[in-house]
Amino acid sequence: MLIIETSLLYFCQLFALNPLSNLFLMSFIASPSRYETMKYNRVGRSGLLLPAISLGLWHNFGGVDDFNTARQIILRAFDSGITHFDLANNYGPPPGSAEENFGKIMTKELSPYRDELIISTKAGYQMWPGPYGEWGSRKSLLSSLDQSLRRMKLEYVDIFYSHRYDPNTPLEETMMALSHAVKQGKALYAGISNYAHEQTAQAAELLRQQGTPCLIHQPKYSMLDRWVEKDLLNTIEQYGIGCIAFSPLAQGVLTDRYLQGIPPESRAAKPTGFLQPEQVTQEKLQIVRRLHEIAMNRGQTLAQMAIAWLLKDWRVTSVLIGASNIDQLTQNLAALNNLHFDPWEVMKIDEILNDKA
Ligand SMILES: NC(=O)c1ccc[n+]([C@@H]2O[C@H](COP(=O)([O-])OP(=O)(O)OC[C@H]3O[C@@H](n4cnc5c(N)ncnc54)[C@H](OP(=O)(O)O)[C@@H]3O)[C@@H](O)[C@H]2O)c1
Repeated sequence: MLIIETSLLYFCQLFALNPLSNLFLMSFIASPSRYETMKYNRVGRSGLLLPAISLGLWHNFGGVDDFNTARQIILRAFDSGITHFDLANNYGPPPGSAEENFGKIMTKELSPYRDELIISTKAGYQMWPGPYGEWGSRKSLLSSLDQSLRRMKLEYVDIFYSHRYDPNTPLEETMMALSHAVKQGKALYAGISNYAHEQTAQAAELLRQQGTPCLIHQPKYSMLDRWVEKDLLNTIEQYGIGCIAFSPLAQGVLTDRYLQGIPPESRAAKPTGFLQPEQVTQEKLQIVRRLHEIAMNRGQTLAQMAIAWLLKDWRVTSVLIGASNIDQLTQNLAALNNLHFDPWEVMKIDEILNDKA
């Protein structure tokens, strides 16, 4: 019965007869099977679930990029159960353009699905000239959020982050600004990114006092950068905060992208890419080759294994990937087909990663 009703709704939507859309001709109809394969994890001790794989718009979605490719990646992601899109005020280039492009796609294609989406943005890095265009003052954070909402043509974001800890602003002020954004209804939840574990504990306490629990921490975390394992993961567990790991593929290094040199269209080759060619070292590629072998024995690509490896820790709510084309997105999503690791595989991977030190 449910299948017949879902198919009927899909058929009606195809012909713009969806009674919910009020005969509005929609250019994008989401796949009825979009929730069939994704896994959803609870964010810390909150009521919110996030997809195990989320999509970030740091690279490939700005004014310098091909809009149609960006649009196709976002729509395919949503069709595959990715309900979470991560942005920041400064994503582009130019800064702000990723939010503008996302706003266009929201308005034209995704607005009927707004309640199915978790959209995040952040403030803290350099965005506009003068003393208020960066860091963590109330002035900077709340002005930036208003700008982000205007660029994305949204009434609210789901998560608003302090993008980095500000050593020169009282943490109370930064956390009060996040809490204020939530109380104003301009954000549903508050998050922090790139905070060390002591700063995270203080921020969590302050937010709790404000009546706005810290929902989530967004740290850099991958096989090649394991700093969170020392203390941060314990801290977020203690405070019931979720974790969304960014740059899980080390910006592409943990894939087969650079095994034969630096391809001209890759992030390391682009003048606007944050990955510098000198960061793709022979030492890293040696490790990547050895990891690649283990991945092949698991019947996975290295990218898939790198994603699965992060998700084996239940404290990692979601892995926040980037993609420059639909093939990468599709390949990375298939990581969910094998999330299991035998103990000897974990040991072997640790051995390889520890060799790096
Ligand atoms: N909070 C923060 O401070 C912060 C900082 C950085 C990122 N982030 C967030 O994290 C998100 C993801 O970061 P990221 O883009 O660095 O993530 P990533 O997943 O580590 O790297 C993505 C890049 O790797 C390459 N790639 C992806 N899948 C591939 C595959 N299957 N085979 C070969 N190459 C592949 C692509 O680069 P090519 O261009 O070479 O194809 C892609 O753009 C960002 O969009 C942002 O939302 C947050």
